[in-house]
Amino acid sequence: MTMKVLSVASEAAGLVKTGGLADVAGALPAALAAQGVELTTFVPGYPAVLAKLGKAKTLHTWDALLGTPARLLAGKLGDHPLLVLDATALFAREGGPYADASGRDWDDNWRRFAAFARAAADIAGGAVKGRSFDLVHAHDWQAGLVPAYLRFAPFPGGRDVPSVITIHNMAFQGYYPADIFPQLGLTPEAWTVDGVEAYGGVGFLKAGMQLADAITTVSPTYAGEIRSAQFGMGLEGVVLARSPRVHGILNGIDTAEWNPANDPHLAAGFTAGKLAARRKNKRAVEQAFGLDRSDGPLFVVISRMTWQKGMDVLAGVLDHLVGIGGRLALLGAGDAAIEQQFLAAAARHPGRIGVRIGYDEPAAHGLQGGGDAILIPSRFEPCGLTQLYGLAYACVPVVSRTGGLADTVIDANPAALAAGVATGIQMNAVSHDALTMAVSRAVDLYAQGPVWKRLQTNAMKADFSWGASGAAYAALYRQLIEEQA
Ligand code: ADP
Ligand code: GLC
Repeated sequence: MTMKVLSVASEAAGLVKTGGLADVAGALPAALAAQGVELTTFVPGYPAVLAKLGKAKTLHTWDALLGTPARLLAGKLGDHPLLVLDATALFAREGGPYADASGRDWDDNWRRFAAFARAAADIAGGAVKGRSFDLVHAHDWQAGLVPAYLRFAPFPGGRDVPSVITIHNMAFQGYYPADIFPQLGLTPEAWTVDGVEAYGGVGFLKAGMQLADAITTVSPTYAGEIRSAQFGMGLEGVVLARSPRVHGILNGIDTAEWNPANDPHLAAGFTAGKLAARRKNKRAVEQAFGLDRSDGPLFVVISRMTWQKGMDVLAGVLDHLVGIGGRLALLGAGDAAIEQQFLAAAARHPGRIGVRIGYDEPAAHGLQGGGDAILIPSRFEPCGLTQLYGLAYACVPVVSRTGGLADTVIDANPAALAAGVATGIQMNAVSHDALTMAVSRAVDLYAQGPVWKRLQTNAMKADFSWGASGAAYAALYRQLIEEQA
């Protein structure tokens, strides 16, 4: 029998995206359809989402969803079912999904995402005629209260369904002062350390982790790392307490969106047997980023400009990178101070460093298809998708050995080179020296033509499509549904 799952996510590729969560939420429906699961995606109705939805059918209305009128719209995400929460007071505003145009988080984010979770719990409980679900899959803190509503304030007379929460990033926890608690519409019993209470406040992600039937995160290594204070960021105790219920399931990539043989954003498509065609893409990157034309090593970065991503450390090794013959094309946005460091480096090294501040999906594809190596010196990385796109596009990943980066890249150490299995370059915990050395290793390996080519072909052969991970999610869903029955 087809399992029916409601996937609750604050972004989904094709509708709205700020990072990898969108890629994953956008790819899950197809990944799970292949496993006999019908996944319905539920997202907030930000203006961009409503615009893409067009004229849509109203399935349900709320007079007062956390105090505000709202309605549920039906649509499609590709070929898969989509539900959208339209609530003017919560989502009809200019800016990003979580912050205004200047990057400041909305003051009422707790209400916006509590309402979203409340609505999800209603839908899962059977509030909408003709739409029933066997399980709810919540993503990140924005959907963290879903298991809390299911447990403490379920839809009256509704069905009791199991839930899974996936942690895409422990650094964002949705932590709010205790005085919002009475406004959430949960019963007083929810206010305990076994419920939504966290360090004296309300913890959205913590609540989800505490109350979901299973916790997953997006790589096996990160699932281990979050047991420590360094990576658990205050929630390691919850991870440890729920240890048998914690699973690491690696993200896959959506091969319909990311296929170098057939990518409309590339100047030239290519396969592992036709790597020479990449040169055209390299020329396109040089032109777009104002770089000198050269067959020397071209590094790329496609990233949020943040501390997590180690971008401050990278900014400090750029003179070295240029000094040993490298060039860099960087696309990213985030912390203004870090952006400034890169703009200053570009001014110091015209023709060698090109920087584009902003968000540009086609340009991201172009960089993967034309760059020689992608730099990802993250301090922590739950999974990371850009290294997976790099592997698929023969843009050799240069990464730190953490989280999903540790699980997906095989370092070109002598043993791996001798065995012919290396796919990239890893460094230990990110530091100026480690990154300097990693960049030097990349330049040295690049100079050894056939060795570099072998890295590229190995990378392209590595399979990070959704097959195995889709099966792992489906198996987990099945287990939880059977437990509940
Ligand atoms: P995170 O979600 O932590 O930002 P991931 O590597 O999982 O990291 O996912 C990042 C996603 O966002 C990838 O699809 C990447 O290509 C994309 N991305 C990041 N920055 C930009 C940018 N400036 N322009 C276009 N795409 C970007
Ligand atoms: C988060 C993480 C990233 C992960 C993505 C999708 O944004 O930072 O590592 O790939 O979620 O799971």
